[in-house]
Amino acid sequence: MHSKFALPAAATLLQAASAQILYGADAGSLSSDTWSSVIESANYTDSQSVAGRDLSATYPGSEQDGWSLSFAIKDGVAGSGETKTPAGAISLSGPSSDFDDSWHLCLHVFPVRPASAGGAWSTDFDGTCSGSVATECLDDLKKNALSNFGKDCKTWSLTASCLRDIQDNRLNTAAVSVTADNHQDFIGNETSFYREVFADEILTAALEPRAVVSVWGRSADSGEDPTIQITCLKPDTVASGSTDPGAPEGAASGLKALASWAVLTAAVAFQLL
Ligand SMILES: *[C@@H]1O[C@H](CO)[C@@H](O)[C@H](O)[C@H]1NC(C)=O
Ligand SMILES: *[C@@H]1O[C@H](CO)[C@@H](O)[C@H](O)[C@H]1NC(C)=O
Repeated sequence: MHSKFALPAAATLLQAASAQILYGADAGSLSSDTWSSVIESANYTDSQSVAGRDLSATYPGSEQDGWSLSFAIKDGVAGSGETKTPAGAISLSGPSSDFDDSWHLCLHVFPVRPASAGGAWSTDFDGTCSGSVATECLDDLKKNALSNFGKDCKTWSLTASCLRDIQDNRLNTAAVSVTADNHQDFIGNETSFYREVFADEILTAALEPRAVVSVWGRSADSGEDPTIQITCLKPDTVASGSTDPGAPEGAASGLKALASWAVLTAAVAFQLL
């Protein structure tokens, strides 16, 4: 009896330790080719540079240019028929794919409330999160990332300081633990560590930024504090051939303006009756 149950449990644990952060129905059943296509042929993207470390050198190495976090979203990825829904992927990539075994990274993703980020389409979103996430919240996220830094990259409940700007009903309890053994699955130009299938249509999904907490530390237990960064991503860069919701004379925004004008006129007419 015991061994019969022990085996599936062990298999589940192994799977959990090497899985991307997944969110939304179907996110776990899409192939890695499908997730690559989200990055390669996205409709909307954002890329922000990160003060990364040289992971090819022994910890603590030195700061290294060329690291970035990207959020790509693509329409019509999951599901079938006419109801195909959009999907999004977050990637961390740097100049080299070497990963010295003295390093360990924890990656956490938090959904920022659209209203905190202005709630509208814009192309000057600030990757530092200033203006969209309260400074006290950013400080608390860093404190928690520090105290939870360990082999399994535990995540935590939000502090009160974060409730205004982070969606606690959408919190994903998973985080990714990146080591020399699994780094190719999670970081680099061709993969992603966060994968989401959206319930909303793509232009609604694009207005919901993500705050990514990246923790760059030592793999061995030590008293040294890891380097912690928080980067906000909002996919507001429009790929060519995709609808530009920011275009002032765009067909889509024109239609929307006409619709709300009609509603307003109807409301006024009703009042006059
Ligand atoms: C990832 O892509 C960037 C930009 O094209 C490039 O500079 C970098 O060398 C690539 N990294 C790897 C590990 O191939
Ligand atoms: C997304 O990109 C595809 C391929 O370029 C395009 O056919 C589709 O219309 C785009 N969707 C939006 C919302 O722009």
